[in-house]
Amino acid sequence: MRFGPLNLSSNLFLSPLAGYTNLPFRLSVRELGGMGLATTDLVNARSLLEKNSKALKLIETSPADRPLAIQLFGSVPEEMRDAAAYIESLGIASVDINMGCPVRKVCRVGGGSAMMTELDKTAALVKGMVNAVKIPVTAKMRLGWDEQNLTAPDLARALEDVGVSAIFVHGRTREQGFGGRVNLVGIGAVVRALRTVPVIGNGDITTPAAAKRMLDETGCAGVSIGRGAFYNPWIFHHTLHYLKTGEALPEPSFEERVRVMRRHLDLMVQVFGEAHGCRMFRKVAPWYAKRFGPANEFTKRVVLISSRAEFEEILEHYRGWRAQFLDENGELKPRFRPAPLVPSFMAAAGEPSREHIPVPKGPVEVW
Ligand SMILES: Cc1cc2nc3c(=O)[nH]c(=O)nc-3n(C[C@H](O)[C@H](O)[C@H](O)COP(=O)(O)O)c2cc1C
Repeated sequence: MRFGPLNLSSNLFLSPLAGYTNLPFRLSVRELGGMGLATTDLVNARSLLEKNSKALKLIETSPADRPLAIQLFGSVPEEMRDAAAYIESLGIASVDINMGCPVRKVCRVGGGSAMMTELDKTAALVKGMVNAVKIPVTAKMRLGWDEQNLTAPDLARALEDVGVSAIFVHGRTREQGFGGRVNLVGIGAVVRALRTVPVIGNGDITTPAAAKRMLDETGCAGVSIGRGAFYNPWIFHHTLHYLKTGEALPEPSFEERVRVMRRHLDLMVQVFGEAHGCRMFRKVAPWYAKRFGPANEFTKRVVLISSRAEFEEILEHYRGWRAQFLDENGELKPRFRPAPLVPSFMAAAGEPSREHIPVPKGPVEVW
């Protein structure tokens, strides 16, 4: 897949997830294959220019963490421009702009709509960034404020006109938050609004079949996966295989999940140090456990870990406890297997998806 001047190995992207898409997570996912481009958590442009230590930690990378996009957030055009130039000077492949919360299209008496005013301002800001760097500049947006104000096609077209290399669109409105159905028709409308710039669809992709459905129904050029990669860091490799061959690879075994979870923790400890890395892992490990089958005995303890050794003890204890749910071949007995993941846009009409994807706390208005 081409992305402006960049050649990517696949059309599958890791979505930015503030608090999670740090270097250890990106490396863990990359080692499993299939991902074309990863993006950092969103970073405030001004903090980056001020070389704030937290901002610098957010963009920490390594030679194995390529190609990488950094996602910027900010509303001051000069800061966004200079931050993009700084990112380019670091040798980063691409810069993504978090479009923040969309604006309601309210018409003021005698004036244009708030959206149109905002569009001109936004296009000027993005143009300043595009002109300042040679690397691709991309933008990530939602469909709009609410069902009545699906502004993404207009915004995407305005950004195409000022030279963005791709548009990422989460197929939900601001009003929907993270609930309700992802609107494939809405993503398709963004695809059709653009002449040449590729659209990357996003929202609720938890299986290879869901990725294919979004690609087929919307005509988008690629898909971006966020929370689906928490459950299943293998999703990129499995999806690429499915798109190429039509064959669905089996779900990873418990031992494979444990192997990758342990590798993830090792990387956390390498990057953040043992105490801090383990503390951060408290919110990561339960995501792996969601596909272990019964896991209370693991989850309630792992959310308190402070050291690598403690993690191993908890895992050993859990293995013993989990044995009661296994058959003679060491597989989970059918009634203890986790339910298949069904994304909102593939659930039967009116039926909620069987397992709602939890949303960790955070500033939804900027996601
Ligand atoms: C914990 C969390 C953090 C997020 N952080 C960001 C962010 O930093 N920047 C952004 O553009 N979107 C962010 N998002 C939105 C995701 O990138 C994505 O658009 C959304 O979760 C839908 O995709 P998914 O269903 O594959 O997760 C975040 C979402 C979650 C759940």
